[in-house]
Amino acid sequence: MAPDVYIENLSEHVGKEVKIYGWVYNKRSSGKIRFVLVRDGTGILQCVMVKGETPDEVFDKYDLLTQETSLIVTGIVNEDKRAPGGYELHIKDIQIIHIAQDYPITPKEHGIDFLMDHRHLWLRSRRPNAILRIRHRLVKAIRDFFDSKGFVLIDAPILTPAACEGTTTLFETDYFDLGKAYLSQSGQLYVEAAAMAFGKVYCFGPTFRAEKSKTRRHLTEFWMVEPEVAFYELEDIMNLAEEFVEYIVARVLETSKKEFEVLERNTEPLEKIKRPFPRISYNEAVEILRKNGVDFQWGNDFGNTDETIISQQFEKPVMVHHYPAAVKAFYMKRDPNDETYALAFDMLAPEGYGEIIGGSQREDDYDTLLKRIKEHNLPVEAFDWYLDLRKYGSVPHSGFGLGVERTLAWICGLDHVRETIPFPRMIYRIKP
Ligand code: 4AD
Ligand code: MG
Repeated sequence: MAPDVYIENLSEHVGKEVKIYGWVYNKRSSGKIRFVLVRDGTGILQCVMVKGETPDEVFDKYDLLTQETSLIVTGIVNEDKRAPGGYELHIKDIQIIHIAQDYPITPKEHGIDFLMDHRHLWLRSRRPNAILRIRHRLVKAIRDFFDSKGFVLIDAPILTPAACEGTTTLFETDYFDLGKAYLSQSGQLYVEAAAMAFGKVYCFGPTFRAEKSKTRRHLTEFWMVEPEVAFYELEDIMNLAEEFVEYIVARVLETSKKEFEVLERNTEPLEKIKRPFPRISYNEAVEILRKNGVDFQWGNDFGNTDETIISQQFEKPVMVHHYPAAVKAFYMKRDPNDETYALAFDMLAPEGYGEIIGGSQREDDYDTLLKRIKEHNLPVEAFDWYLDLRKYGSVPHSGFGLGVERTLAWICGLDHVRETIPFPRMIYRIKP
């Protein structure tokens, strides 16, 4: 009996008979030879039939093999440098499972909107397969990094009673007799509580922003990993962010060569992602903008094009720190030497990608934090538990959030985040 084999493991079966379970990706015939490209999710395999050699009743099934027809193919594995993937299957038998009719995504070019409308099917194509496999490895690398350093995973809730990152991007829902609930914009407030309980923690989950912006960097639902460490100050958390990004890029480079080839991603820029990363203050970043002809108003936050210009000055991710407190979140601690500035940093990815990380040291003084909550017109009652953390053994602490999709867009060299998540959510897209 031929063993059931995945295409990615064919190298272990050269010269032997195997069974492949999959779908027809494409086919072509030239005279006596017929090729069926079969995909099984792990790869694409060229399967060959030859008139006279392949049993006639198998050879004749070729005409039934429409694109995406599911089937089981039995045959002998041959090593063949010319074949895509380096292996070829000489077909002995084909068992058709289901004949697909008029599959909408053909090998010709389709527009992005058409593909996004058919995302549930588009996932079967080579490019989404490569990107989402890299995503899988990126997520694994992220977890491995924190797990190997003794961080405890603390899952933060998704239904929350208040805003974390500003009230303008909240998704609201009715919550029984308790009034309104909001989809979480960040698990940060909860990992702060957990950091006081476990020392170093992280949460990793979906977060939601009712972003009105239709940019190539914004999703309304995205995944964020958020480490939080007790006793860390700004400098410490920047060091951690740097080590973290170096690690995840190296791991993905190591594990995803095949996928980068599919994407035609030149990985040379990624090989340069080694510590130390440049660090500049907000004021220095403003200087850079002005030198590049941007009429930038001091005190504003950087927009997408500003970030692109700043990050293009460096081959490595750049960390911009000491933003004006006025443009940052309520929970950030201010610089004790100059209260104009927050002890905050963003990491901007190179090649013009812009912000992938936002982080800061947190305000750890009860009275100051209470004042900030009021200044930001946030409901104090919703934050009583958060204020408690400053009542019982308050310590300096810091954390950051890295957005998976923006990081992946950079690593894969994509021009839009919509392809980095299986089913993207944007203001104009909730389906499929
Ligand atoms: O800078 P942000 O808003 O920071 C926070 O949420 C902090 N509470 C994190 C923390 O300190 N624990 O978001 C962090 C990152 C951004 O740098 C970006 O990578 C990503 O989350 N991000 C988005 N990604 C896709 N679509 C959006 N709408 C995003 N908003 C933020
Ligand atoms: Mg930010």
